[in-house]
Amino acid sequence: MSQTIRDLVERLARGGLDEAPGLHRVVPATGKGRKPATAVDATDSLFNGLLALDVERNFEAAADRCGHPLDEFLTIIRDAEITYGRPVVHEVPAFGGFTNVGDAVLACARTLGNHDATHSAPRPKMSATAALLSRRSVSPKRLGGAGPTHDEMDLIIRCALSAPDHGSLRPWRVIEFPQDARSALAALFEQEKLRRDPLASREDLELAREHATRAPALVGFVVSPQGRTNVPLQEQWLAAGAALGNFLNAAHSLGYGAIVLSGERCHDPILKSALDIQATEFLAGFISLGRIVQVPPARKLPPTDRVRGKWTPRLPAQDAADAAAAPPSPPSLPPEA
Ligand SMILES: Cc1cc2nc3c(=O)[nH]c(=O)nc-3n(C[C@H](O)[C@H](O)[C@H](O)COP(=O)(O)O)c2cc1C
Repeated sequence: MSQTIRDLVERLARGGLDEAPGLHRVVPATGKGRKPATAVDATDSLFNGLLALDVERNFEAAADRCGHPLDEFLTIIRDAEITYGRPVVHEVPAFGGFTNVGDAVLACARTLGNHDATHSAPRPKMSATAALLSRRSVSPKRLGGAGPTHDEMDLIIRCALSAPDHGSLRPWRVIEFPQDARSALAALFEQEKLRRDPLASREDLELAREHATRAPALVGFVVSPQGRTNVPLQEQWLAAGAALGNFLNAAHSLGYGAIVLSGERCHDPILKSALDIQATEFLAGFISLGRIVQVPPARKLPPTDRVRGKWTPRLPAQDAADAAAAPPSPPSLPPEA
């Protein structure tokens, strides 16, 4: 890039970009040629833009990753500077890194912080409840960059270990699949697909392989119910689910996108055996993790009254009325000889 953003923005303001080689007239957009319909769309564009810049460290490549022409992309950055009153990136001919403000907005984007972020001071740190409310699953195609570091993964797993757990059994475990193990895992996924569908097309097989290779980080989540305990199996499953929830929320709090995907392969005994998963264990799914390079669509939560009830003690008179209305119980038969 030969001009600074400010140069480009000034030329934009004068309508002079039409003549600039390789650039066309600017329409702030959230997708190819689309105007942002709402402030939320505009914020998503900015978040996507900063996330892409963080991965690509280059304006052209980041614009390309977001599906914007370069001039639209620069306008999104310009709009952020106007909103925050200060630059979000260092203005050198090439991308020179994020300013403090840019870092803060990027942190908001990573945590999918509330969309009011462009209208108030950036809040890179969210309250625990805001973090829980803003978690969304992020599909592997929206993930990029690097996965959690060794220490971050340790923290995520410690958060999972801190989930409520009757008897402290920790009836679950995780299996990390490092990059150098992914092609072997891809081969296993492909073989499993062929076992299920011997006529699978080349595309289907490639898709199966991609499930093993696409995400920056991949972790198997295994439920390991324990037989020799008084803790009922249902409670062990609940404990494992709580741990999985903590795992996903911890990843989100650290700014990573994540999603659990299972599919039929999780039930394949040959694949399970190749992954050293016991017959008594259950492969719940594979957790993909990475930086969010494309913000997922907004999620609407159901109203709380769908799950929120209130018990009121029954009056004795009501019990009597219910008993009177109940059908008579069948006569008891004499015991067989
Ligand atoms: C154990 C487990 C396995 C899952 N497997 C799949 C799957 O195979 N395919 C899928 O589309 N969603 C699957 N999901 C659901 C997604 O991970 C995700 O929770 C769902 O799309 C809802 O998105 P949200 O987390 O943003 O609400 C699974 C969830 C869990 C807990």
